[in-house]
Amino acid sequence: MRVLSIASECVPLVKTGGLADVVGALPAALAAQGVQMRVLLPGYPSVIGALESPVEIARFDDLFGGPARLLAGQAAGLDLLAIDAPHLYDRSGGPYLGPDGRDWPDNPERFAALSWVGAHIGTKGAGDWLPDILHGHDWQAGFFTEYLRMMGGTARTILTIHNIAFTGQTSPDRIGALRLDPARFHADGYEYFGTVSALKAGLMGADRLTTVSPRYAEELMTPEFGMGLDGVMRHRRAALSGILNGIDTEMWDPATDPLIKPFDDLRKKAANKKALQAELDLPEAEGPLCIIVSRMTQQKGLDLVLQALPTLLKEGGQLALLGSGDPALEAAFLAAADDPNVAVKIGYDEALSHRMIAGADAILVPSRFEPCGLTQLYGLRYGTVPVVALTGGLADTVINASPAALAKGVANGIQFSPVTTEALQNALTRLAGLYKQPRTWSRLQRNAMSQPVGWDHSAAAYVSLYAELTART
Ligand code: ADP
Ligand code: GLC
Repeated sequence: MRVLSIASECVPLVKTGGLADVVGALPAALAAQGVQMRVLLPGYPSVIGALESPVEIARFDDLFGGPARLLAGQAAGLDLLAIDAPHLYDRSGGPYLGPDGRDWPDNPERFAALSWVGAHIGTKGAGDWLPDILHGHDWQAGFFTEYLRMMGGTARTILTIHNIAFTGQTSPDRIGALRLDPARFHADGYEYFGTVSALKAGLMGADRLTTVSPRYAEELMTPEFGMGLDGVMRHRRAALSGILNGIDTEMWDPATDPLIKPFDDLRKKAANKKALQAELDLPEAEGPLCIIVSRMTQQKGLDLVLQALPTLLKEGGQLALLGSGDPALEAAFLAAADDPNVAVKIGYDEALSHRMIAGADAILVPSRFEPCGLTQLYGLRYGTVPVVALTGGLADTVINASPAALAKGVANGIQFSPVTTEALQNALTRLAGLYKQPRTWSRLQRNAMSQPVGWDHSAAAYVSLYAELTART
């Protein structure tokens, strides 16, 4: 089985969020189950620079405004195909934003090119490698079904929704520039409330749709979470399934993690807490040390943490946050860090994120919506009890410490609902209460650490989906 994964980011080459982790982890997880997956990425400088002995396998005279080459090569153990198109990707800045923090104005063309080359490979192959399936991720891959249809390709298609909040919208003036078929600018095609949407195109056109947790699959069909696409999701209900993300359990292994003081039993975890408190200038405290590692956006509900912080501090707890994003939130957290029991690091720091997840007692994920979420899974693996909103993948991966679950000995975290300050305050009070009961607390931690959070199960689910799709031809 040959599958081309089409994505805008991939660990360890380029990452802004969990999408990159998932795209980077899937090939190895699937290889173990007999699937040959190659990853198609835009040729950002970090991608082109990482390719080992690249080979040119196709040329495009005009790929949305300039010449381009398709390069094949290995990078970081991945079998990559990269689009070397300097006019689209050779710039400093992030994959989506320029140095001024704004979207690159030609993002519609930059990712149309990604989808175009994906469809080209699905039609003509990459050298002698012709994929059975094109597996696109999020809006950046969304037009692949439109282009595949125009090129007459026969590969089957899957689109995975990691976050429906980003729809890849642009004005109908660009239909020509994006090389779309104008006749398909309608509700069953890529038209979305009078605009052109790459995500809508893929949602309507792909043979199958997946998202990254079963709960989010259900939520997507509701007006509250569907962000205007809930009708489309209901329409495509039969094609939609939720397959939970895993994490890389080698990179995130408390027993061998070179970025922490490795521990295979809970007593040794304490050395990580001491080191973290020292590093962040936090005193010793009676209550739990809670951490957050997150993009700072409306989605993540961090404003609620600011509101609920006094409750945590009153309980003797502490907070450490690592993140960046919304300047107003950054400023508010920096101001909160005047309290000696609050530490805030604005920025992106992979190594610190490991030390925080290893050293903390609890990890807070109060998201308003969360398709899957990965940091609560890191928390589980490191015996760092997750305190999460009851939504999306957070609902599917954490077992709430309800009286019944505690009595049965299966709880591994705390969930709260609705996503309000009051409910979070309650959850923090419950957390502090559980933390004071050493036997219950260590049971929670042990349950967390023994929960399977790797890819085996979900990789098998993707493999069945691929098999089902290719059997249907
Ligand atoms: P999302 O993709 O919505 O941002 P996820 O929980 O799926 O949320 O994935 C976020 C990923 O990015 C995780 O791997 C997390 O550890 C990482 N991350 C987020 N912010 C930071 C940061 N400031 N420093 C280091 N890693 C971060
Ligand atoms: C998105 C979601 C996050 C998910 C990640 C990987 O960024 O916000 O919940 O874990 O994609 O699928």
